[in-house]
Amino acid sequence: MKTKSLLIATFAGMFAMAMITSCGGGQQPATESSEAVEAVEESGDDAQMALGKQIYDTKCFACHQADGHGLPNAFPSLEGSDLLLNHTKQAVAQALNGSEKVGSTGKYPAPMPPQVDTHEDAVAVINYVITHFGNNGKKITLDEVKDIQIER
Ligand code: HEC
Repeated sequence: MKTKSLLIATFAGMFAMAMITSCGGGQQPATESSEAVEAVEESGDDAQMALGKQIYDTKCFACHQADGHGLPNAFPSLEGSDLLLNHTKQAVAQALNGSEKVGSTGKYPAPMPPQVDTHEDAVAVINYVITHFGNNGKKITLDEVKDIQIER
């Protein structure tokens, strides 16, 4: 009987040790998150593309369509878009503030409404569309657009 309870106590002790080690008293989560930050830094481009795709698939696709080619007389195609490819900073401003603020082409029944709330999101989605849907344009950096005012 005495041996048995000693055994139980030993096991309980080992179990407690195992719990403490696996939880690491707050050490482990810190290590994990700093590893995650490194991973994002290493693959910053991939992370930005993933974010850009996610934004496109939730917001832009409704008008510009899943293939980026838009709808005739309603929403322009993004393939070969002059604004996107040659005035990329303005395209970022348009994602943030809508086409009326940037200077609408006036060719469509309604302007493009503002879409995203942060410069990070705007850059991510513009860099996604500038490299997809038949485009092979030059990506823009956050630094290049940080002076764009959010006008809402
Ligand atoms: C509610 C519909 C709608 C949504 C959603 C929308 N757009 Fe637009 N987009 C338009 C319209 C309309 C225009 C034409 C604007 C104009 O000429 O005033 C346009 C124009 C553009 C252009 C310029 C195309 C050209 O004429 O060369 C780009 C680039 C663009 N949109 C990107 C995006 C991105 C990126 C998103 C998602 C973050 C998005 N749009 C979401 C309606 C939309």
